[in-house]
Amino acid sequence: MSNIGSYEERVKDFSWEISEKELEYKKGDVINIGEYCTDRVCKMGKGDKPALIWQGHSGEVKTYTFDRMRVLTDTIAQYLKDKKINPGAPICLFMDKIPELYFSFLGILKMGGICQPLFSAFGAESLFTRLEDAGTKAIFTQKKHVGKIRKIIADLPHLEHIIVVDHDGRKPLRERECAFSMEKAEAVEDFEIYPTYAETPSVLHYTSGTTGKPKGALHVHYSLISQYITAKYVLDLTEEDIYWCTADPGWVTGTSYGIIGPWANGVTQCVLDAGFRAAGWYKFIEDHGVTAWYSAPTAIRSLMREGKELVQQHNLSTLRHLCSVGEPLNAEAVLWSTEAYGLTFHDTFWQTETGSIMISNYPGMKSKPGSMGKPFPGISAAVLDLETYEPKQEAGVVGLIAIKPGWPSMFREYWNNEEVYNSKFKNGWYICGDRASIDEDGYFWFVGRDDDVINTGGHLVGPFEIESALLEHEAVAESAVVGKPDPVNMEVVKAFIALKPGYEPSAGLELKIMNHIRKKLSPLAMPQEIEFLDKLPKTRSGKIMRRLLRAKEWGEEIGDTSTLEDE
Ligand code: PRX
Repeated sequence: MSNIGSYEERVKDFSWEISEKELEYKKGDVINIGEYCTDRVCKMGKGDKPALIWQGHSGEVKTYTFDRMRVLTDTIAQYLKDKKINPGAPICLFMDKIPELYFSFLGILKMGGICQPLFSAFGAESLFTRLEDAGTKAIFTQKKHVGKIRKIIADLPHLEHIIVVDHDGRKPLRERECAFSMEKAEAVEDFEIYPTYAETPSVLHYTSGTTGKPKGALHVHYSLISQYITAKYVLDLTEEDIYWCTADPGWVTGTSYGIIGPWANGVTQCVLDAGFRAAGWYKFIEDHGVTAWYSAPTAIRSLMREGKELVQQHNLSTLRHLCSVGEPLNAEAVLWSTEAYGLTFHDTFWQTETGSIMISNYPGMKSKPGSMGKPFPGISAAVLDLETYEPKQEAGVVGLIAIKPGWPSMFREYWNNEEVYNSKFKNGWYICGDRASIDEDGYFWFVGRDDDVINTGGHLVGPFEIESALLEHEAVAESAVVGKPDPVNMEVVKAFIALKPGYEPSAGLELKIMNHIRKKLSPLAMPQEIEFLDKLPKTRSGKIMRRLLRAKEWGEEIGDTSTLEDE
């Protein structure tokens, strides 16, 4: 028997007025990601199988079975319900990669909430922008991060509950803060899962664009179908696998393939809550017998730097399938992994907005090093002409990567931003914002982004957010932010700054400005280099010519700048 019963039965004891919007979601079948990843797996007789093998930074290991995960996620769901947090409410996760992060994600979905994961390294300002935009009702966090929330809470009247998962009672809690330990709370065995429908919102992931604030890409429970299938047929996950996704659930890879995809397939996964160290990673693979591994090119390039000798000092013989995402996977990295591990990294292409893998090198097809592969069966992808938005028919011609809408995990809206959402669709296609070409065999070759967003180590950073934060520094009069090439991270953030009168460029000031961004936004957004200019190049209408600055960094010909002048 499923834990999800009839809709009318279940909703009656929630303190929620059923909105018209919710009635719109009531299409298709009742489906809940939380139930699918836990209760359903237990009902299939896998309750005693490890779901999560977690390792902390000091080496401690905790293992949770699917049944334990079912109970813990039920306990969290009940806690939220008891707090009278309504289904449909955005609930943020602001934690390191601790077990509570993974189980709260599923607990929120089980009680019908919308899960809003945010990267725990975000500073107060990055956090504020996203909590304010979403109108977040509650936030799960750790005591080490609560200070950042305290800084901004006065301006977030809708944030009613700050749930501290590791409060030890030493320091008093403040207004709106509460302590909750999933392990110590009275265990709930049979939470009545909220009957979400296929179109009920599930996850809200914020992503950066060139202009404006970050946008919240809203997903629905139906996304599960795409995530389940691609985890099975692209990541090649099977019953026996021990799978490791290195991504943080603050980003979409860490939820679609670090939670939903593997657990919906009943697969055991490992999590390492520690910073990158090549030897530490290899030991982790060896200790836990990792078989399937999903990572990113920046990590692979960092491993390459450490050399093959380090690989040989470890027994990595359990590994059998490797995939990569987030940035172009250069052919060199593919060839190196083949030599170092005897296995090829398979590139996969997708986005926060697509919710699941769109284009990839999947098992059974011949992979071409340097290519992103082909559209996943059922996905219709093309490259479109930059002006007409018609698919290019000729091989090797560069155009915009586009996907025909309609796959289950497609985002359904940008939170409160219909205009930008609509602008992503042209001529019946969803436009990804990247450029590529297709060869005569139908393989996609990535060329670059079609906007000014910076991809640093696989993480998208919006120049606008950094430029705005730079202007808040007392010494900064004007700023422009671009990506500059980097051998490991592909790109890093570089800022061009014109100072206010009375300030002189110096190494000390550069450092102060860097730290200002690191604290306010995040270490990823921190400029790795600052160049001070007397004034920034501008168009006739006064707009800073970011593309000119970027082209210089990449050694590209900028050509006739008059074309840029009125952009
Ligand atoms: O520019 C593309 C790049 O990452 C962007 C999506 O970023 P995000 O929404 O943060 O999601 C990242 C993980 C799914 C894309 O628009 N990107 C992603 N995968 C690849 C890639 N660029 C080149 N090759 C890839 N395989």
